[in-house]
Amino acid sequence: MAPKPLILALETSCDETSAAVLRGPAVLANIISSQVPVHQKFGGVVPEIASRKHLELVNTVVEEALAEAGADFRDLSAIAVTYGPGLVGALLVGLSCAKAMAFGLNIPLIGVNHMEGHIYANFLAHPDLSFPLVCLVVSGGHTELVYMAAHGRYQLLGQTRDDAAGEAFDKIARALGLGYPGGPLISKLALEGDPMAIALPRAYLEPESLDFSFSGLKSSVLNYLNKAQMTGTEINKADLAAGFQEAVTDVLVDKAFLAVRSRKVNTLAFAGGVAANTRLRERLSQEGQKHGVRIVYPPPVLCTDNGAMIGCAGYHKYLAGQFSELSLNAVPYLPLNPS
Ligand code: KG4
Ligand code: ZN
Repeated sequence: MAPKPLILALETSCDETSAAVLRGPAVLANIISSQVPVHQKFGGVVPEIASRKHLELVNTVVEEALAEAGADFRDLSAIAVTYGPGLVGALLVGLSCAKAMAFGLNIPLIGVNHMEGHIYANFLAHPDLSFPLVCLVVSGGHTELVYMAAHGRYQLLGQTRDDAAGEAFDKIARALGLGYPGGPLISKLALEGDPMAIALPRAYLEPESLDFSFSGLKSSVLNYLNKAQMTGTEINKADLAAGFQEAVTDVLVDKAFLAVRSRKVNTLAFAGGVAANTRLRERLSQEGQKHGVRIVYPPPVLCTDNGAMIGCAGYHKYLAGQFSELSLNAVPYLPLNPS
């Protein structure tokens, strides 16, 4: 049997500079250098600063990943890299670095879609995962329900028509003066609040629709805060955080199970930065138990951006012989390949 390929994977689509080394599907190293402290004072990611930071960090992160894996450049079988969606300047840093390595080492380059990477974090955490399945992918920029019949085959069932769920978490956290990134901060504050104390809307759109909309919920919370400020009423931030989180959770859980029923699958995978949310994980698991549906999600470190998930998606592309040209460019709005 041929030895499993040794893959170096790079992820620089947003504010994490990450490199991982995988032997087949096994992660040998997953180095993540977060830029959160750099962007925190601006209340969100500043694209130009993100690109410059990636440039400063990428070589060190690659060297650390190889050292931790006990590997040398010459041992590598292929380089996997995120080429979209994401911030174009940030993507270009990882992609240029990956192309230079692939060219210099004369090994294949494997371009990976960032959302595909998020989905594949589940295959790292649950190697026995089987098809067909529905995946709920929720990040800072995307909220999608995807049907997968096989590796690398994606059918988009629904997506957000306005804000992504993670973006809504970030915007509400900013309005509450909590800081960036908002998801973990809201989730922590919500533990002390009553989710039913403040009535907030849930947008289900047309019956049977698998699309999402979070802008109405976001506006309701912002209106509530403005009204309180105008009338000098004191607000309970924990109740508002809990109410907001519960409203997002209700819609995500209901729509995910609508997708599971409509596609008649019995596995639901949850992925993306928002999949680190404890309340969402708990509610999906409860519903899964009730309906006999297997619910899987990665550990929190594999939910947010990391190189290992790109390496796992890259490994499956390697097996399928799906390599990229060295002319591959960054694609900021790259969609998932339809099946
Ligand atoms: O996937 P990700 O790391 O980056 C993108 O691809 O966008 O997702 C980042 C998003 C941010 O909006 C962040 O607030 C959210 O994931 N997030 C969470 C939690 N941890 C991260 N949202 C809710 N609860 C969390 N615990
Ligand atoms: Zn992401």
